[in-house]
Amino acid sequence: MECKQQLKWLILAMICPLIAGAPSCMCKRDSSCPKENLNITGGNFVLSKGYSEGSLLKYICPDGYYPSVQSRLCQDGRWTSKIKTRKTPECKKITCPSPRVFENGEVIPYKDKYYVNDTTTYSCHSDYTFRGSAERVCKPNGKWSGSTPICGRDSDHCPDPGVPPGSSRTGNMFNIDDKVTYRCQSPLTLIGSKVRVCLDGGQWSGTEPQCYADYTYDTPEEASEAFSSSLKSNLAVTQQFKEGQQGKKKTMCQGGKLDIYIAVDASERIDKKDFENAKSTIKMLIDKISYYSVSPNYEILIFATDVTRIISMRDFKTNEDARNLMNIFKEHDDFNYERVGEITGTNIAKVYSAILESMKLEELINAIAFRETQHIVIMFTDGQANMGGNPRPKVEQIKHLVTKNHPDREKNLDLYLFGVGDDVNQEDINGLVSQRDQEKYFFKLKDLTEVQKMLDYMIEYKYAQER
Ligand SMILES: *[C@@H]1O[C@H](CO)[C@@H](O)[C@H](O)[C@H]1NC(C)=O
Ligand SMILES: *[C@@H]1O[C@H](CO)[C@@H](O)[C@H](O)[C@H]1NC(C)=O
Repeated sequence: MECKQQLKWLILAMICPLIAGAPSCMCKRDSSCPKENLNITGGNFVLSKGYSEGSLLKYICPDGYYPSVQSRLCQDGRWTSKIKTRKTPECKKITCPSPRVFENGEVIPYKDKYYVNDTTTYSCHSDYTFRGSAERVCKPNGKWSGSTPICGRDSDHCPDPGVPPGSSRTGNMFNIDDKVTYRCQSPLTLIGSKVRVCLDGGQWSGTEPQCYADYTYDTPEEASEAFSSSLKSNLAVTQQFKEGQQGKKKTMCQGGKLDIYIAVDASERIDKKDFENAKSTIKMLIDKISYYSVSPNYEILIFATDVTRIISMRDFKTNEDARNLMNIFKEHDDFNYERVGEITGTNIAKVYSAILESMKLEELINAIAFRETQHIVIMFTDGQANMGGNPRPKVEQIKHLVTKNHPDREKNLDLYLFGVGDDVNQEDINGLVSQRDQEKYFFKLKDLTEVQKMLDYMIEYKYAQER
């Protein structure tokens, strides 16, 4: 029955262009989109601009469920979606990545699929030592609570790095220079380090891999904890520079050696309200960083098809007025949506390229100071890099400029990326962030409101860590 119905629509869609102009035909080119056939089984949808051209339809499912098609865009009178399917969209149950590859121990219960609120417990065979969480619950964001359980022998130079849920590992030797390689079960995406090496110090290089589904998000709490911890250890690196001169007082003098680049995406999926949100996100972030007793130099960029520098690194360092953060905020308030210009594309390559230019200029002006500077890039993007080409070569150039391929200078560069929303292409983005010191550099949040919640939590975590 349903199949016939679909066939009818298909035929209609095919012959409509031929009889365009006929009054009964819904495909006439008034560029509004049809109201029919949009329902989702088990859920709802919202429209950003009704049924008119450019409107974004977002599917919403109840807790514990995700939509099989996330969104649709009204384009040229048709609803387009990234996933090509003729099936009616449906809300499907969220599952957590399978923890069944659990070496040297046992997972209970052993099931095919694990849904939200399912609990698993872990124990080791005799002769193995347990690390991690012995009990984990599948959370509504598609991740397990706690940390990866591991049963290891701990007789090698590095501890057993474990097998995070949803992944499999090759490599079972854990001595210096031994490598382990991970992959995630299809269709999950690996976030973190695919390859890890056992280092001299008895630690694994990089960041523990995690397997994310398209619907997996970081909660504001998770992101906040990880970002605070990462920022804290990285800002501590900055503080070492002056520990000697100033004893316990951990404040940096003006023009100190910390350069922070903040870039925010303003491309089409973000509407006007979100744009205001993006501006307040920048303000909040700068405010939160100020709690860390550092006085960084800032460059702030907003990008879409083009890149606009709200304030450049050079201006910030040389212009008294610009250095006054209140002025930056003022400048921000004067900066409005229209000034972004063409906002149809997400040109991540171009924004990294702009940051690279600024860094090159800084190096040119004072190479010694540049070498001693901690460089932090914090990027917020809501989409795929859909224009300007692959941003990765630019990021490689940034890495090269800062580290000059010296491993001990790697700590001078931190590349953070916050993927915001449904359209984040996880695979693309993974190569754009730092991977080291067990810290997390890529975060995926539902929307900017969640980003702001995350920033709100940050200070709580900062104080919790200090106690
Ligand atoms: C779609 O949903 C609306 C509102 O829930 C309902 O009135 C309508 O009958 C549904 N249409 C179809 C084709 O199921
Ligand atoms: C999971 O458990 C919580 C707390 O008991 C409950 O509020 C929530 O609705 C449950 N979610 C699902 C998808 O069952």
